[in-house]
Amino acid sequence: MLEPLTIVRHPLVQHKLTLMRQKETPTAVFRQLLREISLLLAYEVTRELPMTTRDIETPMAPMQAPILAGKKLALVSILRAGNGLLDGVLELIPSARVGFIGLYRDEKTLKPVQYYFKVPPELEDRMVIVVDPMLATGNSSAAAIDLLKKAGAVNLRFLCLLAAPEGVRRMQEAHPDVPIVTAAVDERLNEKGYIVPGLGDAGDRMYGTK
Ligand code: URA
Repeated sequence: MLEPLTIVRHPLVQHKLTLMRQKETPTAVFRQLLREISLLLAYEVTRELPMTTRDIETPMAPMQAPILAGKKLALVSILRAGNGLLDGVLELIPSARVGFIGLYRDEKTLKPVQYYFKVPPELEDRMVIVVDPMLATGNSSAAAIDLLKKAGAVNLRFLCLLAAPEGVRRMQEAHPDVPIVTAAVDERLNEKGYIVPGLGDAGDRMYGTK
C-alpha cells in the first residue's frame, strides 16, 4: 500500500528539484527538468498498478511473465500547470487515458472556480492519477478530486512536485483515501497562497508568462 504521504527522496529527484527552484533557471531548462522529474515520480505513484501474468516464449523457454492488468489508467491534469507533469508521466505510460480539469484560483478568496471538465469514461474501473505540480492551499486539488469522485472515480492518487503542509492537511482531511506522492513538503504558504521557499508560480516558470 502507498503511504498517505510519500516524499520521493531519490537523489536525482532532489537534485533536479533544486535546479528548478533556482530563480535564474530558464524556462526551457525548467520544463525539461520537470519532464525528467515527472518520470521518476511516475515510477513511485504507479507502484500499485494491478498485475497479472501472460504466457510468453522467450528465445530460450516458455514462461509466465508479469504484465499490467485491468483497464488503462487515467491521468487527470489540473490546468494549466498540471500539463507539465502530465507530459513526463505520459512518456512513461503512453497508453494512459487523459483527462483535464480547469480550475482557476480566485486571487481574493483563494477558492477554486471550475471552467473545464473532460475526463475518460469508466473512471470507476481505473486507477486515476491526478497531477498538479504545486499542492499549495489544497483547495483546487480537493475540489478536483471531489469532481472526479462524483464522476465515478474510486481509486485515486495525487501526484505533485512540491507541497505545503497546509495543502497536505487540507487534502488529507477532505480525501484521506487518496495517497499523495511528492518530491518535497516545504515550510509554509505565504499570505498570497504561494509555497515558501517553493519555486514561484509553476505555470509562469513553465511557460514563460511572467
Ligand atoms: N501555485 C504555484 O504555481 N506556486 C505556488 O507556490 C503555489 C501555487
